[in-house]
Amino acid sequence: MRDNEFSETLLAWYDVHARAMPWRVAPDAVRSGVRPDPYHVWLSEVMLQQTTVAAVRNYFPRFVDLWPTVSDLAAAADGDVMGEWAGLGYYARARNLLKCARLVAERYGGRFPDTREELMELPGIGPYTASAIAAIAFDRREAVVDGNVERVMARIFLVRTALPKARPELTRLAERLTPARRPGDYAQAVMDLGATVCTPRSPACGACPWMSACAARRAGLHAELPRRIPKATRPVRRGIAYLARRMDRAWLLERRPESGLLGGTLGWPCSDWTEMPTPAPPVEADWRDPGVEVRHAFTHFHLHLSLRIAELPEDICPAVGGFVQPEDFRRSDLPTVMRKAYDIAAGIMDSPK
Ligand code: ADE
Repeated sequence: MRDNEFSETLLAWYDVHARAMPWRVAPDAVRSGVRPDPYHVWLSEVMLQQTTVAAVRNYFPRFVDLWPTVSDLAAAADGDVMGEWAGLGYYARARNLLKCARLVAERYGGRFPDTREELMELPGIGPYTASAIAAIAFDRREAVVDGNVERVMARIFLVRTALPKARPELTRLAERLTPARRPGDYAQAVMDLGATVCTPRSPACGACPWMSACAARRAGLHAELPRRIPKATRPVRRGIAYLARRMDRAWLLERRPESGLLGGTLGWPCSDWTEMPTPAPPVEADWRDPGVEVRHAFTHFHLHLSLRIAELPEDICPAVGGFVQPEDFRRSDLPTVMRKAYDIAAGIMDSPK
């Protein structure tokens, strides 16, 4: 197949099979002149960097409901945005999201720049996201290469080199196939193909518009590529979280420092997270060990958090954090790991003794 036959075949497939997504403009609407909102494209891509399409389908509409434009988001209070982001994980992204929104509002008057180079200068926008916004929002000929696209390229062109070493070659191949006509639709089409047809374990080759050109299929390697050098296993860190409730039902919560893990989010006072944590109760109390552990996977380690719970008298003065009534915070303000701990502690405290 010639390069432009690849893109034309795939675009014809996309015209029929494009997945509907709340931030996407369907190909027939694009054809009649509707353009995607760059703010929507940016927001969805930042969300999609760390979670699944299914999860973003829930988070994205709430964000644009609360903050319909990038300037609205720029004017939002940090805590409100962090609260809405809770559960998506990786809070540095939420902080960069706000920084980026504020820069776009101030420097560009609320309009995203339309080239990959200018987009790359914005906080939290790396090469992938810059290409995705330039292509999808502004129909620029930029290759958008995520894990799905890498898999598709490795198979079509039978790239046997393992990832991550194969990355530059896969990017070159993706660039070669990216057309000048409809590059935005094309970018979304390859990602959809990877997500729905050319899937990691059992690709649906019969439904693939590129099947006849696929070198991996001819070699019988379509379900095995791309190869990967196995990742080092993540180490385990341990920690202790202290969940305390005052007699008037207020919880002792703490906002974590801006820099570092879960920076700027609300949570339970904790020990350090290390191989051997040092206990660090925020107040003297009769701390109970419920004998359960919360486990959570971070990018570079697994956390095993053991819990301590206590009921405190009203006149207590903790060394850290502050008391918050249950109606003054939402369960969803807490990042996932802290929410898991909360559910366990609240369950224990509210069950009949
Ligand atoms: N994954 C990340 N961004 C995407 C997009 N715009 N379309 C389909 N899948 C995606």
